[in-house]
Amino acid sequence: MIDLHSHVLPGLDDGAADLDESLSICAAAAADGIEVLAATPHVRHDYPTSPDAIDAAFETLKSASPPVELVRGAELDLAELDRPKEELQRYALGGSSYLLVEMPYIGWPLDLADRLFRLRMQGFRAVLAHPERNPDVQDRPELLEPIVAAGTLVQLTAASVDGRLGPRTRACTKTLLDRELAHMIASDAHAPEIRAIGLAAAVASIRDDALARWLTLDVPGAVLAGVEPPPRPISRPRRRGLVGR
Ligand SMILES: [Fe+2]
Repeated sequence: MIDLHSHVLPGLDDGAADLDESLSICAAAAADGIEVLAATPHVRHDYPTSPDAIDAAFETLKSASPPVELVRGAELDLAELDRPKEELQRYALGGSSYLLVEMPYIGWPLDLADRLFRLRMQGFRAVLAHPERNPDVQDRPELLEPIVAAGTLVQLTAASVDGRLGPRTRACTKTLLDRELAHMIASDAHAPEIRAIGLAAAVASIRDDALARWLTLDVPGAVLAGVEPPPRPISRPRRRGLVGR
């Protein structure tokens, strides 16, 4: 699997505190079946991580020979998108044209579509992280329809999909998957415990192997390659979907 969201780099944000923790996360990810792991530290007011800081921490971790293939990235707050194109490019996932953008946990940002459109005009596409955790999206998932139609990809957090973040969040992942408003699953790992990675558990909760592969391999692979994701596999009958329907 390819996991495009983790806070694995040492000492940059609220994820791994030091190199030992970074290596523990990498080991847990490898044990969970992850082969490629994007390092996506926060870039926001409380963790204003610079591209140079990411480069330095990335090299530190890479030189310690982690058991997964690491790719560079960042998780950008919406307020951080007004940066020069050259700087945004240094935050892109695997050097591609895709940027991981953090959906706020509270409130629907009225300028979201506008900000994502401006990114598009600069040649970037957004991967929107964990909108299913936002109560406004839980109440009105159709809010995502126009931005998905405009090319934004939606990334669900693994712990949302299999219910670890509660029934409401899980129900929202089911709705987004049913309405074809979700394109990948990622760990958003901050800590090394297997349950905190949990991509395999999330995949197991989707009783559709082709869809699970699309969400954890085909789409994230296309993102890293900077190409259009392949079409979603034909949906199975409803009874074959998430456990607990
Ligand atoms: Fe994150």
